[in-house]
Amino acid sequence: MDNKEMRQIIIDAFNFRHATKQFNPDKKVSDADFQTILEAGRLSPSSIGSEPWRFVVVQNEEMREKLREVAPGAIGKLETASHFVILLARRNVKADSEYFRHMLTDIQKVPDEKLEDMVKGFTSFQNDNLNLYESERSLWDWASKQTYIALGNMMTAAALLGVDSCPMEGFKMKELTKFLEDEGVMNSEYFLPSVMVAFGYRKEDPKRGKTRQSQDEVVEWVM
Ligand SMILES: Cc1cc2nc3c(=O)[nH]c(=O)nc-3n(C[C@H](O)[C@H](O)[C@H](O)COP(=O)(O)O)c2cc1C
Repeated sequence: MDNKEMRQIIIDAFNFRHATKQFNPDKKVSDADFQTILEAGRLSPSSIGSEPWRFVVVQNEEMREKLREVAPGAIGKLETASHFVILLARRNVKADSEYFRHMLTDIQKVPDEKLEDMVKGFTSFQNDNLNLYESERSLWDWASKQTYIALGNMMTAAALLGVDSCPMEGFKMKELTKFLEDEGVMNSEYFLPSVMVAFGYRKEDPKRGKTRQSQDEVVEWVM
């Protein structure tokens, strides 16, 4: 395939993707397609390779029914989506935390003799450059930002496979946190809910086409 064809595939996928409000409840995303969507999330980039996420796939009908209360923005999607994912963002992602040391040592295979220098450098980056240690919230917001990269990649991968999606942050933070904790799928000492996304196949085509500002309005070239 040449770049001309590839460009068209990419643009078609972005036009195909829309925030799907109602899915066809009888049409399920295949395991192979859904695995690829999860891989797009898992392989996403994150600042300093922190991967501060967890993807909770909620397929339990009873749980989805209860989620309507604490995630009103997901009503319509919870009942009809083939797959429903809650992206959690990690809390203590300080460079000197146990978690981040595990990332450096066990995942990124940083040699022992380089570990402390890296921890020091990343601590300075997070604290001095980005001011993330100002509050627990700033640090969590930074982790949450990373989850949106995974979210975007998962939705684009889905669109390329002809799978519809809907991103959602229409939830009540305190209530959803308690719910996930009570259901035993999240420990709020380590994670908080960041954003949700539903996948499936549209029940009907969107009522109106894409509405976006023009490139002139959103792009500035500095030459
Ligand atoms: C971060 C984020 C949160 C959103 N939250 C919701 C939501 O809770 N419920 C919903 O129905 N749509 C939600 N949307 C969908 C947006 O309203 C939609 O993407 C936007 O209007 C543009 O339309 P389009 O995606 O169909 O092009 C959300 C979108 C994003 C990116």
